[in-house]
Amino acid sequence: MSTEYSPAEAAAIDAADAKYVMRPWPNPAGEPVIVASAKGCTITDVHGKEYLDFTAGYFVNNAGHCHPRIADAATKQMHKVLQMSGKHGTVPAVRLAERLVNLLPKSVNKAFFSTGGSEATEFAMKLARQATKKKDIAYLENAYHGLTLGALETCASEKYRETAGKPLSDDTFSIPNAYCYRCKFGPHAECNVQCLDGVEAKLDSRPNTSALIAEAIQAVGGLAPPAKWWAKLDQIRKSRGMLLIIDEIQTGLGRTGKMFAVEHYGLEPEIITAGKGLSGGVGSLGATIAGDQLLGKFFGGTTPTSGGNAVSAAAGLELIDILVDEKLVENSAKMGAYFTEAAWALKDPWIGDVRFTGLLGGIELVSNRDTREVLDKKLVSAIKDSLHQQGMLITVSGLYGNVLRLQPPLSVTSADIDRLIAALQKTLAAVRKGV
Ligand SMILES: Cc1ncc(COP(=O)(O)O)c(C=O)c1O
Repeated sequence: MSTEYSPAEAAAIDAADAKYVMRPWPNPAGEPVIVASAKGCTITDVHGKEYLDFTAGYFVNNAGHCHPRIADAATKQMHKVLQMSGKHGTVPAVRLAERLVNLLPKSVNKAFFSTGGSEATEFAMKLARQATKKKDIAYLENAYHGLTLGALETCASEKYRETAGKPLSDDTFSIPNAYCYRCKFGPHAECNVQCLDGVEAKLDSRPNTSALIAEAIQAVGGLAPPAKWWAKLDQIRKSRGMLLIIDEIQTGLGRTGKMFAVEHYGLEPEIITAGKGLSGGVGSLGATIAGDQLLGKFFGGTTPTSGGNAVSAAAGLELIDILVDEKLVENSAKMGAYFTEAAWALKDPWIGDVRFTGLLGGIELVSNRDTREVLDKKLVSAIKDSLHQQGMLITVSGLYGNVLRLQPPLSVTSADIDRLIAALQKTLAAVRKGV
């Protein structure tokens, strides 16, 4: 434990945070963590307490915190040009667009840069509507695509929808997702994607639908549909002339053990969104990537002021190079498998499901493995708090708020995972004892 701040200075920083920084979230015990420095998978708070960061700074620092190559690339760029509006351009932004297009399916070939994920969603929605002249957009149950007013319309959570402070429009509607662990049709030997029955009728009742927006693998809860589910849904939407918008904001850039999650399914969406790690953790970048044919029908409504910041783009380009050079996409796949095996090996009665695709996902907690009853929220919070005290920074996610989301930087090692698993084993036993 070492820090540049004395205990009094650190306490004053915490007090100033409480007084001046708006935090419209519940703050569990010990949060927020005010970070003084960070390296790889480890962050150090102003008090000198170290944490293993299983949030990767909210799923952004895919190459690890403060990777020296990213810091160098950003610093070099800072001495050349910092910002130009999207009306013009900078070399890193041009190169990042080219790099993205070359990594993504052939169905998309031009990138529009914005300032973050929600804005990328907004632009994708506008583009789909303008190009098809249809206003409705379908999204999946359990979906999350951002919290700005437009993006919120494609967010499934009622809790989030209420934050608009007004009733949302009925231009968007949900269709079933694939939550196989809690399949509504009960256990069956072979999945025949029954959950998609009724989707065609629903879409036919909404002929004004321009697009389906979805993540290839839902980050909330780490829900990876079977390949046949995506094959069927893709065919259903194509046969109705609907566009497919795939949100790669969280799943992209190696998180799922592939550079982009569409690769798991061979999807060729007309529009793809990216964000989070795209800036290499330097500032924030969003991107909406689409095909010329579609973009030719776009008649505007995007703000170019801050999109594609040169320093963020230089850092994002470096991130992609690091992912390749250090084989971090492969490490993501390997560590996801390691995590899965280690979590199941605990044989803990509260571990209902372990779902990792690469390093996207986590552990679903239940009070009864046979009935799959969701573990009480208070117990889930107690588990999170205890992990926090032991220096493990995690988030809780999932439709029922009972999934420990464990998504470290892609450079995480098996030794880091062993530490989390050991802390979890201790925690689960201790919390159960207190019940
Ligand atoms: C899948 C997905 N889409 C969109 C967003 C919104 O991105 P941002 O928070 O950068 O606006 C997020 C952020 O968590 C996300 O996970």
